[in-house]
Amino acid sequence: MKTTMILTMSLSILAVRADDAKLTMELDKPGVAINRNMWGIFFEDINFGADGGLYAELVKNRGFEFPDPLMGWFKLSPKRMSGSVSVLTDQPFNAKNPHYVRLRNPDDKMPFGLANEGFRGMGLKSGEAYNFSAQVRKASGNPKLRLELYNALGERLDSVLLENFTADWQKRTAVLHPKVTDAKARLHVLVDGPGELDVDMVSLFPEKTWKDRPGGLRADMVQMLADMRPGFMRFPGGCIVEGNDLSGRYQWKKTIGPVEERETMLNRWNTEFLHRPAPDYFQSFGLGFFEYFQLCEDIGAAPLPILSCGLACQFNTGEACPLDRIDPYIQDAIDLIEFANGGTDTVWGAKRAAMGHPAPFGLTMIGIGNENWDKPYIERYAKFHAVLKARHPEIKLISSAGPGPDDGRFRYAWPKLRELGADIIDEHCYSRPDWFFKAVTRYDGYDRKGPGVFFGEYAAQSDRTVSIRNQNNLECAIAEAACMTGLERNGDVVRMASYAPLFAHEEAWQWKPDLIWVNNLSSYGTPNYHVQKLFANNPGDETVPFQLAAAGTNQLFASATRDRRSGEVILKVVNGGDAPTSVAIALKGNVPPGSSARVITLTAPSRTDENSFDKPANVAPKEDRLTITAPGFTQTLPAWSLNVLRIHLGAEATAKP
Ligand code: AHR
Repeated sequence: MKTTMILTMSLSILAVRADDAKLTMELDKPGVAINRNMWGIFFEDINFGADGGLYAELVKNRGFEFPDPLMGWFKLSPKRMSGSVSVLTDQPFNAKNPHYVRLRNPDDKMPFGLANEGFRGMGLKSGEAYNFSAQVRKASGNPKLRLELYNALGERLDSVLLENFTADWQKRTAVLHPKVTDAKARLHVLVDGPGELDVDMVSLFPEKTWKDRPGGLRADMVQMLADMRPGFMRFPGGCIVEGNDLSGRYQWKKTIGPVEERETMLNRWNTEFLHRPAPDYFQSFGLGFFEYFQLCEDIGAAPLPILSCGLACQFNTGEACPLDRIDPYIQDAIDLIEFANGGTDTVWGAKRAAMGHPAPFGLTMIGIGNENWDKPYIERYAKFHAVLKARHPEIKLISSAGPGPDDGRFRYAWPKLRELGADIIDEHCYSRPDWFFKAVTRYDGYDRKGPGVFFGEYAAQSDRTVSIRNQNNLECAIAEAACMTGLERNGDVVRMASYAPLFAHEEAWQWKPDLIWVNNLSSYGTPNYHVQKLFANNPGDETVPFQLAAAGTNQLFASATRDRRSGEVILKVVNGGDAPTSVAIALKGNVPPGSSARVITLTAPSRTDENSFDKPANVAPKEDRLTITAPGFTQTLPAWSLNVLRIHLGAEATAKP
């Protein structure tokens, strides 16, 4: 199907010139039903996406449970202070969190202790409150505990003194108010006065988290997600689901319940890339499965958990659980359905209720395996499929077509999964922008009878996959937008799609490009983010048929949908060429007087333009309005642009006084 079209930002009655592209919308013809929630997000704890990112905890290694228990901590000024730090495990406050530190201060003049460096520093904002907590026990003497915040220049930002400790562990709290904003602050935990204190689970959270939840998520980052209005959220990944070996796989049951009982684990992105080592990257699971479900609910996204299929990452060990021992993996899926949807009188539903959410989370789909392939995957998926379809026919299963969109692994997977009656197959693609332009027609020939497609990970790579030179530039964003018009036109086959990865920390990333960039104080959306947001904010319930006739070498791509909620017709047109181009848009059907359109355009002067912390809105959508009369109008599409036209047929209702 050809896809091209025209718009001139200034409206003119349809007067078609020979060099205009022509787009004819058949408003009176039926389209096909599509999933209005097809545009979602993909979350993985990569690039410090969770710990050091979305999870607002500012203390790294708060439980001293990293393999090096003092990683992230440093002893303060040994020249001035003569105390000692020991890492101990006898009589911990919680057996699941066995390590703690004993801080000994022999001095009655000078406090002694440790400083925590945070995640590439701690982001603190003046005027805001920060909630400190720790488990503390007195081991000898009667010392106090002094808590101090310092900025990168070594200036003290606030100080609080706690006292009256007992020989039993107690959770102690304090509130600190930094007097200036700093992205590279640190927390000092000091024993004040002679004696010894045992300290564990040292935590510092901003009081202002998303929905002001104590121990919650970074508000600015969640807001970026909420603004997208994603139809679903895939979590927790990504390769992190699989693990380098099976012992390193993501096990959701270990991520729920009290945070101090969630076992710290290596993050697989710690060691994955020699060119971007992250030796301090671990998973605290403070953001665990309960919090993922809660986040989905908060932002109105359907939850899509992905579980290990009993096969470790095939780019690493590919360790496979023997088929006759796969039952516990399948049981994890069954229990997860109960955790999300079961009554409070069920074992796992009761655990959800105990965490504060008696109502079900409304889980409707689960992914089995992430980017797995070949016979080992199909054999394991088949086992899950047989059991889950019998026990939970209401749950849609997402299966994997492997890591590439058209290689041997992909061609092996599809017929096998079709034979098994798979619901939705997950396709991944990280490729150059050209691939995305060509993929506009990829799904036109797919079998309409199923399985459906989840285009579950994709991003245009300005250089090559995993290259540190990849950029989140306009060209890549527009290439993705072009491809997305093809996904939407084929929305009867492509049920869902999500860009990956989602977040990256400016100083702690492993993988580029990424949708949203953050540092310790702020975040910004890339041009790619704006593309995703424009599609997700302007979804449809059914396609609207149209013909698009390119003129000359125009690089125009389009999709048209009808939004039943607003009654509007939504036209998305992408110009992937170096020159502005005109498109004559003809509207066939009833175009009542007073019809109008909102036109939202994403473009920039150069296709290499990007956003940054200094210029977060360098590439950002701009909005205009048009009045529309039959039979149509001509519009100019800027070079390298995505244009969304929300066409309201008939006069819009005006608010009555
Ligand atoms: O998105 C980054 C990684 O790319 C994902 O973890 C994996 O599924 C894919 O290879």
